Amino acid sequence: MPPKELISAAAIAKRVAELAREIDAGIPPGPLTVVGVLRGAFIFMADLVRALPREMTCDFLGVRSYGDATVSSGVVEITSDLAAPIAGRHVLLVEDIADTGLTLRYLLDLLSARGPASVHTCVLLSKPSLQKGTAPIDFVGFDAPDKFVVGYGLDAAQVYRNLPYIAVIDP
Ligand code: IMP
Ligand code: MG
Repeated sequence: MPPKELISAAAIAKRVAELAREIDAGIPPGPLTVVGVLRGAFIFMADLVRALPREMTCDFLGVRSYGDATVSSGVVEITSDLAAPIAGRHVLLVEDIADTGLTLRYLLDLLSARGPASVHTCVLLSKPSLQKGTAPIDFVGFDAPDKFVVGYGLDAAQVYRNLPYIAVIDP
């Protein structure tokens, strides 16, 4: 049985279009690099950049934060770095979900040290466990429940990324 739907594909599409407008208004003009965090953000980023009507480059960071477990290890490992420098560019960091916010914090510090013109953060989902002050999140798609969610790029032990909607599972 497929996991239980929490956010439909149609609701995601509507919110992604709104988010793109918020982002376009919120990031100043100038060279823009959108950085997706692999692998969870790949589907969200694909939809988001197609809704953003401005010139940009797309790049990716490979990150391992949980291994295949469903609880935070608190350890972030970079498995693949950006392909190009970001000095002098506006950067939009795109992540699938913020739980504690520790992954985002780590990546924000990493990118900020490379001399970008600005770094903004965007997550599709934000959990209630996000500690205030851990990482500033500029653009949020949806508030997520304190449950394990999958689909639309998010996985449980690498499975379910291809679900077109967001679902809740019992890990
Ligand atoms: P944080 O560092 O605690 O904010 O965890 C963020 C990372 O944990 C995300 O990039 C996800 O890969 C993963 N994660 C956290 N919660 C979930 C979930 O409910 N489903 C799938 N992945 C999750
Ligand atoms: Mg992730």
